[in-house]
Amino acid sequence: MTKPSADKILFTPGPLTTSLSVKEAMLRDLGSRDFEFIQTVRDIRAQLLSIGEVSEETYTAIPMQGSGTFGLEAVLSSCIPPDGKLLVVINGAYGKRIEKIASVLKIDIAVLEYPENELPSLEEIDKTLASDPAITHVEMVSCETTTGIFNPVREVGEICAKHDRLFFVDAMSSFGAVPLNLAECHVDYLVSSANKCIEGVPGFSFAIARKEPFLKTEGFARSLSFDLYGQWKGLESNGQFRFTPPTHTLLAFRQALRELDEEGGVTGRAARYKANYETLVSAMREMGFEEYLQPEIQGYIITSFRYPNHPQFDFEEFYRRLNERDQVIYPGKVSNADCFRIGNIGRIDTSHVKTLIGAIREVMTEMKIDLPLTAAPSR
Ligand SMILES: Cc1ncc(COP(=O)(O)O)c(C=O)c1O
Repeated sequence: MTKPSADKILFTPGPLTTSLSVKEAMLRDLGSRDFEFIQTVRDIRAQLLSIGEVSEETYTAIPMQGSGTFGLEAVLSSCIPPDGKLLVVINGAYGKRIEKIASVLKIDIAVLEYPENELPSLEEIDKTLASDPAITHVEMVSCETTTGIFNPVREVGEICAKHDRLFFVDAMSSFGAVPLNLAECHVDYLVSSANKCIEGVPGFSFAIARKEPFLKTEGFARSLSFDLYGQWKGLESNGQFRFTPPTHTLLAFRQALRELDEEGGVTGRAARYKANYETLVSAMREMGFEEYLQPEIQGYIITSFRYPNHPQFDFEEFYRRLNERDQVIYPGKVSNADCFRIGNIGRIDTSHVKTLIGAIREVMTEMKIDLPLTAAPSR
């Protein structure tokens, strides 16, 4: 594997540890109208489609400046018609963010909300679409990074197709590491970003849109900067972004895509992340830590662990002591339980995970917490 640099290792949901070669790819100045840059953007767009297992005939990839949320906002604000209605399927903070974006945009919404440790009900989604003909679009997060749960994209896509509604997937933390054929899963719009499983650096997000509905969205945009159709038109006409592109980030992304290819594409990357996950979870269980989710619904991207039920455990101190050992974990985001998160993604392999495990053992000893933990975590 290409070496990461000497920085702290990030076991986070992103930005992530990236390879030295990805960072080095940015050590150039390339004009936004330069032929090489235009070709780079063209290549990136084509490769994004191949990761989604679709072709240019039916889908198009559109990079958009800004973080993942900007990409989500671009799709919501410019692909839903003025009289459209969005069904948001929620089981975590990122589903809630979609609801928030839509409500700020004054888009009519319906919500199906589930506990953070449960999958959405397919039956209820089916019934809601059958009973509310005003709903035009359905949105769901594929890997809800709040907990790490894998939501049923294929099944929800089938329900949307059956009811002839458009399906929008936030695949921020799964695209590139969880195989997904957009056409087979009836995904009309997908959004992800540069600094997640493709292992680039932050600076842009991208949408992959099915052309048939997307090409009818001209004029729907509720803002100039987020106009996805306008962005697409610019890219198609002269290969350029409408406004200043993140040139360095795109160069890093091109290198990250090469490294994804070298690793065996999505399948190869999935295998490394799964190995990280399995190494992590078995060692954490051995120490007596408990996962927030049941294993059947837990994905291999990021795992939420409950705080140990021990008077000496203090997350801030645990975090700080790990950080001093160059191991960066992540606070929890679950609303009803005290958890912390450990990510398995980025340029890390099982040797990094084993180093983290060793550091956790040391820190627990320093904090005078005996392992294995004996008390069940408080709920
Ligand atoms: C599923 C999901 N959606 C949306 C976002 C927001 O992305 P950003 O923080 O890049 O705006 C994230 C970030 O981790 C995410 O995991």
